[in-house]
Amino acid sequence: MTTKLFRHAHIYTPKMGRTPAAGTEQGRIHQWPDGALLVKDGRIAALGDDVEKNIESRREVKEYDLEGAAVVPGFVDPHTHACFAAKRETEFSMRLAGKSYLDILKGGGGILSSVRDVRAASEEDLFRFSRRLLQGTLHYGTTTIEVKSGYGLDTETELKMLRVIARLGRETPQSVVPTFMGAHAVPEEYRTDPDGYLALLLNEMLPAVGGLASFCDVFCEEGVFSVPQSRAVLQKARELGMRLKIHADEVHDLGGAALAGEMRATSAEHLLAASDQGIDALALGGVVAVLLPATAYSLKKPFARARAMIEKGVPVALATDLNPGSCFCESMPFVVSLAVMGMNLTPQEALTGATLNAAWAVGMEKETGSLEPGKLADFIVLDGESPATLAYISGSRPIRSVWKAGERVA
Ligand code: NIG
Ligand code: FE
Repeated sequence: MTTKLFRHAHIYTPKMGRTPAAGTEQGRIHQWPDGALLVKDGRIAALGDDVEKNIESRREVKEYDLEGAAVVPGFVDPHTHACFAAKRETEFSMRLAGKSYLDILKGGGGILSSVRDVRAASEEDLFRFSRRLLQGTLHYGTTTIEVKSGYGLDTETELKMLRVIARLGRETPQSVVPTFMGAHAVPEEYRTDPDGYLALLLNEMLPAVGGLASFCDVFCEEGVFSVPQSRAVLQKARELGMRLKIHADEVHDLGGAALAGEMRATSAEHLLAASDQGIDALALGGVVAVLLPATAYSLKKPFARARAMIEKGVPVALATDLNPGSCFCESMPFVVSLAVMGMNLTPQEALTGATLNAAWAVGMEKETGSLEPGKLADFIVLDGESPATLAYISGSRPIRSVWKAGERVA
């Protein structure tokens, strides 16, 4: 039994409620200046003022002096495509020269070029490339990460991706949440028969991935999957026991947010083009809005309307969207900084978005996302006095150390 005591910490954390933090709760951060954190066997035993009475024998306790630094929960990154086999830098240059993201996809590039890379890669090479990506995110404080499949688009390669994602969960320090995203694009071999691909998804792929994925996600977008096609995929996934996510209204307002609300999905993601009705539907359905400001930045698009969402009672979470095309970003501090500077979230709201609400978005709220007794001791020691340091220090790494289940991992 290992017991660790972290002293002289300025602890900042959201607190778990019965539902994700919405409205004014989004910005409610509890703090203990000069507080302490007691960790037993990888979990938080006590914090703040309750610590001393929880120590049975001082001799068995390893002590750390954090010298007044801010301590926040480890980041939960609830939306990534961090399982791929090659970068797409040429495509980035095409976008800079004026070609649109969806036009590149229509021309057989974009997601489809990653599909060719992932199909060609051995399982071992795919694992190694992805492990490097996860190490990058860990360095920036991500202690729990969702990873989507969706660069296979045939049963065999989707299963290969999901095996790699499961192995990442076993062989990296992070908790990894697997999402099946066979509905990420229509593969080239079905270009003239998209309904044939939908049938493959419903009748073969979804039944085959059972047990390997906690969530199912679909790219509901013009020229990709329509609202009725997305609904069919999600209905089948739900029947098979998966929870639901939707890439909704990223480029066009197709009604993806409304679909998320209607289906009471766990989360709707992107939402750059979501309408007022879409936002109302999210609030009504209790859906977490997972916002990806680094994607808006990389696509040179206006940010999602986070303030309107918070005002209407939609719980907001933040994610990197780490992927080889629309946004190659490993850094949650950068995302928090964009959320504060570009979407006008307060540092407190952004912190809840990057931790507790993000944990709700991936079904990990009982384990992580806030510093509370019983939860995993996943935390970050910041190189500053408060969560504002994440926006204040821009473009570098405002982190002294990263701890996962009570162990120093970066
Ligand atoms: O979230 N929009 C769809 N999927 C990803 C991009 C994937 C890619 O370009 O490889 C996204 O932006
Ligand atoms: Fe995505």
